[in-house]
Amino acid sequence: MADAASHSVPAHVAIIMDGNGRWAAARGLPRVAGHREGAKAVRRTIEAAVNHGVQYLTLFAFSSENWQRSAGEVQDLTFLLKHYLRSELAELHAEGVRLKVIGERERFGDTLAQELEAAERKTANNKRLTLVLALSYGGRAEIVAAARRAIEAGMKPTELNEQNFGSLLFTGGIPDPDLVIRTSGEQRVSNFLLWQLAYAEILFTKTLWPDFCGRDFAGALEEYAGRERRFGARPV
Ligand code: FPP
Repeated sequence: MADAASHSVPAHVAIIMDGNGRWAAARGLPRVAGHREGAKAVRRTIEAAVNHGVQYLTLFAFSSENWQRSAGEVQDLTFLLKHYLRSELAELHAEGVRLKVIGERERFGDTLAQELEAAERKTANNKRLTLVLALSYGGRAEIVAAARRAIEAGMKPTELNEQNFGSLLFTGGIPDPDLVIRTSGEQRVSNFLLWQLAYAEILFTKTLWPDFCGRDFAGALEEYAGRERRFGARPV
């Protein structure tokens, strides 16, 4: 039997948004058309998360490996991000969404990096949903950066523990994801939140990201509610 906690709404949902390219290819469209449609799915998903009372939503929008894509596609994704931020920020703020960016935002250049920082500052006191955007993010790089921070802070090896190490990650202060969703049928973690996913429930769906909608989000929460979470312990 599942315990009481497993029936509740996950506090933190993280999503690997995959399948934009395949969505576009199936329609004979350029990849950017899939990304544009993917941005609409982002909007729907934030709305669904707010409506279901999810407190943290992390979206893998650009991985450190995505820099290896063609210059044109990187430019399209950067443009979309900038456009999304400029066109949606006011509404996100009005809806009580706090924005937090994890990853190496400086790689996108000063303008976008500064706009992201300004958006974080503007929304810092919002309480309804924390939207974590993973941008130029890689889990291994994040862990190495945290180790560097610990060394730079002069921490002794015996002082270091899981709790204080976790607080040195980009996600310090944010609870670990309860549920991770990956769209498009791929079944990999792809360097996403490697430390933080230790006990997350993982759900793979064949739906391509641009087709992902409120119903898919609700279905994922329903499946999560039926899972038995043990955190390594034996069932009661
Ligand atoms: C994966 O699909 C998706 C990405 C690499 C980018 C995700 C970007 C968006 C959803 C749009 C912009 C985001 C925001 C936050 C406004 P893929 O291109 O790897 O698809 P494929 O595997 O089918 O080729």
